[in-house]
Amino acid sequence: MGSLGYLLDLGMRYLFSCLAIFGFYVIGMGQELCRPVELRCEYLDSPLGIDEVHPRLGWKLKDGRQGARQLAYEVVVGVDSLLVERGGAGGVWTSGRKLSAAQLVSYEGPALKPWTRYYWRVIVWDKDGKKGALPGVASFETGMMGMANWRGAWISDSRDIRTGPAAYFRKPFRMGKKVRSARAYIAAAGLYELYINGEKVGDHRLDPMYTRFDRRNLYVDYDITGYLQQGDNAVGVLLGNGWYNMQSTAVWYFHEAPWRGRPCFCMDIRISYDDGSVETIVSGKDWKTSLSPIVFNSIYTGEHVDDRRQQAGWNRPGFNDSAWKEVVFRSAPSDNVVAQVLPPIRDVEKITPVSVKQLSDTVWVYDLGRNIAGVSELRVQGPAGTRLRLVHGERLYPNGHVDQSNISVHYRPVGDGDPFQTDIYTLSGKGEEVFKPLMGYKGFQYVEVVSSSPGVVLGANSLTGWFMHSDVGPVGRIESSDTLVNRLWSATNNSYLSNLMGYPTDCPQREKNGWTGDAHIAVETGLYNFNGIKVYEKWMADHRDEQQPNGVLPSIVPTDGWGYEWGNGPDWTSTIALIPWNVYLFYGDSRLLENCYDNIRRYVDRIDERGDNGVSSTGLTDWGLGDWIPVTTKPPVEFTSTVYFYADASILAKAAGLLGKKEDEKKYLALAEKIKKVFNGKYLDSTKGVYGSGLQTEQCMPLYWGLVPAEMKARVAASLAHRVQADGNHLNVGLLGTKALLSALSENGYADLAYTVATQRTYPSWGWWIVNGATTLYENWPIDAKSDISMNHIMFGEIGAWLFKGLGGILPDAGEPGFRHILLRPHFAKGLEELRASHDCPYGEIVSSWKTVGGKIVYTAVVPPGATAELELPWKKVGLTAGTYEFRQP
Ligand code: BGC
Repeated sequence: MGSLGYLLDLGMRYLFSCLAIFGFYVIGMGQELCRPVELRCEYLDSPLGIDEVHPRLGWKLKDGRQGARQLAYEVVVGVDSLLVERGGAGGVWTSGRKLSAAQLVSYEGPALKPWTRYYWRVIVWDKDGKKGALPGVASFETGMMGMANWRGAWISDSRDIRTGPAAYFRKPFRMGKKVRSARAYIAAAGLYELYINGEKVGDHRLDPMYTRFDRRNLYVDYDITGYLQQGDNAVGVLLGNGWYNMQSTAVWYFHEAPWRGRPCFCMDIRISYDDGSVETIVSGKDWKTSLSPIVFNSIYTGEHVDDRRQQAGWNRPGFNDSAWKEVVFRSAPSDNVVAQVLPPIRDVEKITPVSVKQLSDTVWVYDLGRNIAGVSELRVQGPAGTRLRLVHGERLYPNGHVDQSNISVHYRPVGDGDPFQTDIYTLSGKGEEVFKPLMGYKGFQYVEVVSSSPGVVLGANSLTGWFMHSDVGPVGRIESSDTLVNRLWSATNNSYLSNLMGYPTDCPQREKNGWTGDAHIAVETGLYNFNGIKVYEKWMADHRDEQQPNGVLPSIVPTDGWGYEWGNGPDWTSTIALIPWNVYLFYGDSRLLENCYDNIRRYVDRIDERGDNGVSSTGLTDWGLGDWIPVTTKPPVEFTSTVYFYADASILAKAAGLLGKKEDEKKYLALAEKIKKVFNGKYLDSTKGVYGSGLQTEQCMPLYWGLVPAEMKARVAASLAHRVQADGNHLNVGLLGTKALLSALSENGYADLAYTVATQRTYPSWGWWIVNGATTLYENWPIDAKSDISMNHIMFGEIGAWLFKGLGGILPDAGEPGFRHILLRPHFAKGLEELRASHDCPYGEIVSSWKTVGGKIVYTAVVPPGATAELELPWKKVGLTAGTYEFRQP
């Protein structure tokens, strides 16, 4: 910007910051050109391995001016980055100039070629129709683009599924020419670690992610250019069991999964040389295999390593593999191998223990100070052959030893060779040794290290914790003057992340199961706080793999077959409707809804026909588990399941409308209406404004899910409030009730009461856990419950979403989803002096914050460029365009 421009800019800023418009101030506006930023393909930064035929391209706008928005765009895609950079035709596809505010478009050019890097950029025209600044060029690279393009073979060693040791595979190769670029495409049934010339490729953990292996397998695409060298090279693969070859026996019978087999993999390495030629090195008969020092591995229980079995240099060139065995060909686990294009699981956070206690000359107990999912890493020195057991748990016995009794309950061990959540490490005795398991994870706060004999020395720094989870980027934040609110927000996120491993789980220790109910309760918490769309899209594909022809879905996904007959009613398995719908609301992207449409329809039809052998039901259903883990009261299962039946039918009708399926829209609207009518006819006492027997769950669920007739809402809300007050301003609900309770109160005139319930510090409440030291959410209300007391469950995690909805009041508008139009309805709860809620939506950061100054509220809102908002304050209602605003309570 020239100096005149700079002065003008300063002047404008000053002018705007002084301008009072309709009693509020518009502040902090800049004058730069509108510039597209954060160009993403499939929601990822310059991703590799795109198999999508129509990948989605999205961007945000950087434009500090009030009312900033985009009037038109043009997307340009090409294979020549210079051409694309010049902003002209990219050579492959241009959308043409579209008069549209859309900031997410799908590629509609000619069929994309496999293994090809495409460059793209977008040109935008700003609110005044002026061409914006050009962003940098972004890229995406296609992967295999279909089964037909694979060249490698699926290989394994010839061993039995019960073989303890994990297998190594290696292949040396020579490269004479100069490499321009190289990619490795690796698919595995089981878990793999990939090495080139002794170095681990990438930083992913526990790849590939868990899928229903006999229906769909994931491959990962790595840029390995930097790992290769001129001359001799070697590629090494270590294969672990994961969920593919479950060694441990628990009540869900994963050791009898129909897909079970000794792990295998398939790999293509494509090397493009400077001279334009391409060489493909593939998995095949010319590979060799041997057993690794990992003598046992189970993702469910632990990993046993005998470091005396190390084969130094096994994954480097020059290693003598003459004693290694031939590999065998294996049939592919499924005929559907697709790219894993989502944030990987990583070692995200390193945690230093807060204390270590030595209980004897062979026992140490480390305390991480917080509960996590992940692994512990040990640095140790000692005599060869010493065996160390690392026992992981969430709590301690009074005598200081690790207590696993709350989490080992569903484990059915055969013998004592596979102890629960325990790694076993045998020392080689060669100086300092580092042990970190590669093929599993655990849920824990404490690690008890037990040595087979004295002589090892462990100190405070010998053990480190690694918090592992799907590395989804944070997009939400809550900060407030109430430390309990802050701690609740962080505990909820800890549990959410501990339960995100390429699919949402219930708990990281006892089960690691993809429980559907837990996940739909937590989906808003997840989406307010993390950029989770890709994980949910992957998990919905898992759902589609699991659905029976009759529409039935299992209660855990993925599954070995367990859960088709238990727990899979609409109160749990409505994931199929609720998750795509929420992704639509948060991202304004209907692709997942579209991909799942048929599955939602089949599930809703199944609920509808379930009543009477295929004959349309009465509109009520008692299929389900009901309000799970309640404090003391639980409504009839028919009550709660019918509410979810209604929610599903309504979402289906809305999805049908959106996708132009007029007949379906009419049909399912009518079904939703019928359910509502029958439900209210049976359960609503309209003279009293009370549902059922007046329990909290019975009042809040119909309010939250929209079944209460408009004219009855105030009275039902009052009954709910009375019930809560009669219960001492404490909750008395189970997981279905927790989803609805706080929002039903705050959306219907009882925001202060909602805040009181949410921040109780006495039993039963979320705060009761926190004041008792919880850093995660629990599975049960009493902290000393005798059963169902995992200490890292996301099942009661709705509180995390409510902080954004019920306090910050940041809500998506289904009419203009993805926060293109934001509903801002902050609730200034009595006693909460300050709050700042922010959410980085597809358009940028939304902020809703307030503080109390001299007894009056000062409220600040930020609406990102491209979005608008409707703000509802107790003293005014106003429409906002992009900008930063401050409002003072009169
Ligand atoms: C899980 C829950 C799950 C439930 C179903 C439990 O064992 O841990 O979170 O939703 O079963 O009833």
